[in-house]
Amino acid sequence: MMNVFPHPPVSAVTRILGEAGLPCSDLTPAHLEHFFGCGSTVAPDGIVGLELYESVALLRSLAVSSKCRGRGCGTALVAQAELFARSQGVREIYLLTTTAQRFFERLGYARVLRDGAPAAIQRTQEFSSLCPSESAFMVKRLLVQEVTCST
Ligand SMILES: CC(C)(COP(=O)(O)OP(=O)(O)OC[C@H]1O[C@@H](n2cnc3c(N)ncnc32)[C@H](O)[C@@H]1OP(=O)(O)O)[C@@H](O)C(=O)NCCC(=O)NCCS
Repeated sequence: MMNVFPHPPVSAVTRILGEAGLPCSDLTPAHLEHFFGCGSTVAPDGIVGLELYESVALLRSLAVSSKCRGRGCGTALVAQAELFARSQGVREIYLLTTTAQRFFERLGYARVLRDGAPAAIQRTQEFSSLCPSESAFMVKRLLVQEVTCST
């Protein structure tokens, strides 16, 4: 089973994002609080990040080193990000992608109009400036488990 863990080393985050050509100029220590790595904790094969804004989140910076792709790392990272988001009360996860729309569709994400983005997502640097306007804007609505008590 794939080892997915929190707080991957910053050097690995910038290396993997750089290799994949994804933006990292806006990353702050606060962002890195909600990053996960996959594989070795010292030299991860892949990473993903979440920006949390109460009931919505932006999934960002999903990248797997090219030599490690196709082994389930990307899927495991998204699953962990979703699990964590749900535990924080997030109901909807948004993302922008130019390269992986089909990958995310298979994981239950659907393309939506940018105009309908929640204000908190519109204010992110990824949304407002870093990702090209032709990026696919996608959302997944998380199922919230109802807890029922029987007496
Ligand atoms: C997208 C990405 C993270 C997938 O990582 P991965 O570890 O290869 O993913 P998995 O091994 O879990 O792949 C699961 C399936 O998705 C498919 N897949 C992978 N990347 C895909 C893509 N860009 N488009 C469509 N399908 C894709 C795989 O072929 C695999 O299919 P299979 O189960 O039929 O073999 C990786 O290709 C990557 O880093 N790409 C460059 C960066 C990027 O595009 N990030 C997303 C922007 S936020």
